[in-house]
Amino acid sequence: MSGLEHYDILITNIRELLPMDQGGPVKGAAMNKLTILQDAALAIRDRRVAWIGTTKEAKTLSAATTIDATGKLVTPGLVDPHTHLVFGGSREEEMALKQQGVPYLEILKQGGGILATVEATRAASYEELLQKACFHLDRMAMHGITTVEAKSGYGLDKETELKQLRVAKQANIEHPIDVVSTFLGAHAIPTNFKDDPDAFLQEMASLFNLIRTEGLAEFIDIFTETGVFTVDQSRRYLQLAKDHGFQLKLHADEIDPLGGTELAVELGAISGDHLAVATDLGIEKLANSDTIGVILPGTSFYLGKDSFAPARKMIDKGAAIALSTDFNPGSCVTENLQLIMAMASLKLKLTPAEIWHAVTINAAHAIGKGKEAGTIAIDRKADVVIWDVPNYMYIPYHYGVNHANTVIKNGEVIFERQEIRCSKYAT
Ligand code: NIG
Ligand code: FE
Repeated sequence: MSGLEHYDILITNIRELLPMDQGGPVKGAAMNKLTILQDAALAIRDRRVAWIGTTKEAKTLSAATTIDATGKLVTPGLVDPHTHLVFGGSREEEMALKQQGVPYLEILKQGGGILATVEATRAASYEELLQKACFHLDRMAMHGITTVEAKSGYGLDKETELKQLRVAKQANIEHPIDVVSTFLGAHAIPTNFKDDPDAFLQEMASLFNLIRTEGLAEFIDIFTETGVFTVDQSRRYLQLAKDHGFQLKLHADEIDPLGGTELAVELGAISGDHLAVATDLGIEKLANSDTIGVILPGTSFYLGKDSFAPARKMIDKGAAIALSTDFNPGSCVTENLQLIMAMASLKLKLTPAEIWHAVTINAAHAIGKGKEAGTIAIDRKADVVIWDVPNYMYIPYHYGVNHANTVIKNGEVIFERQEIRCSKYAT
């Protein structure tokens, strides 16, 4: 056998392979068009996808490890483009307040919510935060996520914001999952700046230079919301960030429709996130822009909302949409993007094809990694998931469990589903 035909990993008998390799971001009606390779095979060499063909053609190939994917779906590793990965503590006691109907913004106003996590994050050491972040990354990896965006925003002082960003940077080095960082110092107004939010924004903006020179974040984000930052404050802050060479993101129109979607488009943000209550004007502008709408139905669910983001309308108008967990300790506590895919089907009325674009190629573009992640293509980094499901429609359908069988990150198997030994039918 010639050396050229030898691979590190060969996956054969793939029932359905989704390459998701049409460039992108994929907009509007194109999100519903999926290339599905049947009876496919895939070979990995030197951490990259080296060969794609049929199982029949693969018979001439040899590999150090061969994985039989009979009956299974294979896709690119999932990309989660919006998480609040690094934080201290947890907020399970807020559940009772939620049940009593206390609104999210009211809990924040009373010093709870984000501000409770700020206290816990300030109190936690760098090592504690790193260990906790990696624990959550492990769980994301188990669920098929191979690239993730991580925001700061639970420090709200210079020291703790930098601590969070440095933890995310170190997690990217130490953990196989790729972590892309966003500075969200403008996440809430800390108590000591309660009467002067502009001064607080100045304080956070004074970190831009350092963040840039130390390579601590690629994006700057702000929470544009009632009782947090106004559209005007957000515009000024983000313009400054842009002048420093950052790309922009916004927590926009999550709870009240303030016009954050429009602002994201106006500033040429790479993504506008949440958009749960975006207006028709906002949707129209989004559809005619290069800004990607990152939609977080898990948050609408977790905040007990009756209505969900108008993602259906956004796609129908021609927008590019991505989906994310919004993983954080308050408004959506899950690392499971598969669950979000089910919500996108049931609550946003997206088709399975649209959902796959939204968690792979479009999600990668929403964090500036469209050329590196979210696609299976020759010479690309091999981020590949083998799913215990028969077809691409199945994951949004069978919800609340983990369907990942094998997760390959950068050409290495980082997760394999445990065998269950309690039944003679175990696979
Ligand atoms: O995306 N909206 C603001 N920030 C987060 C929630 C953070 C928290 O509650 O801790 C979000 O929903
Ligand atoms: Fe968020």
